[in-house]
Amino acid sequence: MKTLILYATQYGFTADCVQTLSKKLAGEVTTADLQKEKAPDINGYDSVIVGGSVYMGRVQEEVKAFCAKNADALAKKNVGLFLCCGLPANFHQHVENAFPAALVQKAKAVACFGGELRMDRMKFLHKTLAKAMSKNAAELPKLNPQAIDEMADTMNAV
Ligand SMILES: Cc1cc2nc3c(=O)[nH]c(=O)nc-3n(C[C@H](O)[C@H](O)[C@H](O)COP(=O)(O)O)c2cc1C
Repeated sequence: MKTLILYATQYGFTADCVQTLSKKLAGEVTTADLQKEKAPDINGYDSVIVGGSVYMGRVQEEVKAFCAKNADALAKKNVGLFLCCGLPANFHQHVENAFPAALVQKAKAVACFGGELRMDRMKFLHKTLAKAMSKNAAELPKLNPQAIDEMADTMNAV
């Protein structure tokens, strides 16, 4: 079983989730950051997992563009989708905005891995927004390790 994980990240939380997930997946796993490298040809893989992080309700443009451009090829794969976000209550809305409906429907797993506000790494505007977000939030965003485990189990079972 060969799995490709394609992702985008702003401050590294999503990349850390991808590392954790890749260690839990059976078989050969390749990862690629869509903002830094060209995605490998997905035809060489049995499963393709795609995800990114949410900023102001939107996932990175590279994630959206990849899913739109490769819709036909993805339709032939075992697909997993995930998002990292600070407001899991809005997860379904985020998924709707991030991925084509047909892809969501055919995905074996659609998961929210939680989020983290990495203030020390943020550029000024993001830090200001993140501070406001934390002030109003009942609790700070955090990792959902169970969601990563569940996606690994689901993808390992296909
Ligand atoms: C400026 C800013 C805007 C954000 N907007 C949203 C949002 O609209 N919805 C949400 O659920 N999370 C939002 N988040 C939380 C991020 O999705 C979360 O911090 C995530 O872990 C970032 O992952 P990354 O480091 O891989 O980019 C925002 C965070 C920042 C700093």
